[in-house]
Amino acid sequence: MSYPYQIHTPEEYHAAYRKSVNDPEAFWADIAANFYWRKRWDRVLDWNFTEPSIKWFSGAKLNITENCLDRHLGSLGNKPAIIWEPNDPEEHHRVITYRDLHAKVVQFANVLKNNGVKKGDRVCIYMGMVPELAIAVLACARIGAVHSVIFGGFSAQSIADRLQDAMATFIITCDGAFRGNKEIPLKSVIDDALVQCRFVKRVIVLTRTRTPVSMIKGRDVWWEDEIKKVETHGNPDCPAEEMDAEDELFILYTSGSTGKPKGVVHTCAGYMVYTTYSFVNVFQYHPGDIHFCTADIGWITGHSYIVYGPLGAGATTLMFEGVPTWPDAGRFWDIVDKYRVNILYTAPTAIRSLMSFGLGPIQDKDLSSLKVLGTVGEPINEEAWNWYHEYIGKNKCPIVDTWWQTETGGILISNMAGVTPGKASFATLPLPGVQPMLVDENGEELKGNGVSGNLCIRYPWPGIIRTTYGDHERCRLNYFATYPNLYFTGDGCLRDENGNYRITGRVDDVLNVSGHRIGTAEVENAINMHAGVVESAVVGYPHDLKGQGIYAYVIYSGTHGDENLTRQDITLTVSRIIGPIAKPDKIQFVTGLPKTRSGKIMRRILRKIAEGETENLGDTTTLLDPHVVVEIRDGKI
Ligand code: WTA
Repeated sequence: MSYPYQIHTPEEYHAAYRKSVNDPEAFWADIAANFYWRKRWDRVLDWNFTEPSIKWFSGAKLNITENCLDRHLGSLGNKPAIIWEPNDPEEHHRVITYRDLHAKVVQFANVLKNNGVKKGDRVCIYMGMVPELAIAVLACARIGAVHSVIFGGFSAQSIADRLQDAMATFIITCDGAFRGNKEIPLKSVIDDALVQCRFVKRVIVLTRTRTPVSMIKGRDVWWEDEIKKVETHGNPDCPAEEMDAEDELFILYTSGSTGKPKGVVHTCAGYMVYTTYSFVNVFQYHPGDIHFCTADIGWITGHSYIVYGPLGAGATTLMFEGVPTWPDAGRFWDIVDKYRVNILYTAPTAIRSLMSFGLGPIQDKDLSSLKVLGTVGEPINEEAWNWYHEYIGKNKCPIVDTWWQTETGGILISNMAGVTPGKASFATLPLPGVQPMLVDENGEELKGNGVSGNLCIRYPWPGIIRTTYGDHERCRLNYFATYPNLYFTGDGCLRDENGNYRITGRVDDVLNVSGHRIGTAEVENAINMHAGVVESAVVGYPHDLKGQGIYAYVIYSGTHGDENLTRQDITLTVSRIIGPIAKPDKIQFVTGLPKTRSGKIMRRILRKIAEGETENLGDTTTLLDPHVVVEIRDGKI
């Protein structure tokens, strides 16, 4: 595999960037020419950001799995596609070659067909990080079913909401998942979700933990039994479904500033081209390199940089079932040494957590195979950047600080490893094909360098969100209505004197907790479901490990005396409604919330108090009851 679109020098970067702005269609057509199409496109791009309507490679026919699997069989058939490291280091790891992976995807695609799954059907996948998760994702893509992967940490209620939103009638899950010293009863969570979702026709259950599960006749089947049925028919081929460029590939739910999570929709051709292009360029992948992305496939990072991007490039992708701190805090480094990993892509929260264990867990590790380090998910503080650079990269590995979002499909702003310079806590420069723009509150462009404002993108790239599932208006309002003719990211950003971008964090009511997006409104709704809670307001505050912690102000009228027990009850309620990732770190009981005369909660003040500010709380004169601020400040926990 060679990558004619791989950029190798700063000059090539600038030339590619210029071309991508002057003639975007020619730029992308050249890149797309390196993929396998059943039929080439009639038009490269049709777009307007007002509806929005964005179509890349219209008229083209393809199947993404032919690009991720079939086309590599000739030259890479015996090369590892997926290396899988189990949770328990004593258990055998697995190496799945491109030929094996192709065979397994075809086989499971036939299982899906036998179970009645058709093109366009939505399939929910709720599994741990086992290779069968990647196989399930690709098998859906093979037959044109739309996958909706749900992270294993979400609750039954969150699953039910997502199943209903997408009307997903098929589910693929495991009996349970191993994560560190925990066992997560996935099937049992699914069973709880299905009490509300009678429309689900089939649940396919993979054996992993062999924990007892209930299997309902006519609805639930075992993965292994279904595979046997296909095998007895001599393992027939499963020709890939011919997909239109703009047919839906998957839905992935993510939190916004209002209401329930929305289903971000990505489509086949643009997503394929963008993830592979960005993977090859940002990480400077070279054939034979081992790429280890530590994300979970339940998040966009796993979709784009464990599965589709690397496989599109014929790369070897390492999948890890466990957690960085089990059996001890040297686990990542053991994995790096065991497989001679070349590219390590992880999150600042993981780096900060591993830093807190000191240098002991690194002392006897080699780490000399590493060439490129990456981070994603939240701004990386300088201290963590320096530690990563010095102790993991031994001052010789470039760090790519990759900024992007579920909605962008792939990395938009990042240095390219060893090609364009990195700078601690800066994502640096846009990839060729990406046109960032900073605007002020009124949408006026902030030109020149040394400015900060709200980050927008003024021109489509192939990986851009197409719609929010079942509610296009929501997509328009969320991303395209704040500033006319611009995609609004929701992030604040600074452009320094050299034109480097530094993301400063969300400017809306979305928190970033350990790199996971959580809407404050979502957490408030969950807290308010607890009996006895009258009202609540949730804000973020700086947290040493998580980046942001969740601080909840709660008005409680219940009768039970013990405050700590009530806090635990509220926390458990949030766990049940959303999942453990949304649990508040701090709960402060208050008698009132600072509101304007029109009833709007002044979050700015609550944020300042949560951050520990005592003096400059800003103007409180417009509040209905300014005294409440003093009470809240003095009662801060
Ligand atoms: C934040 C994750 C600073 C940002 C791929 C964005 C970052 C949100 C970075 C998207 C980075 C992501 N530097 N902030 N390198 N990468 N973010 O949808 O606020 O889970 O809007 O996608 O994470 O989170 P999401």
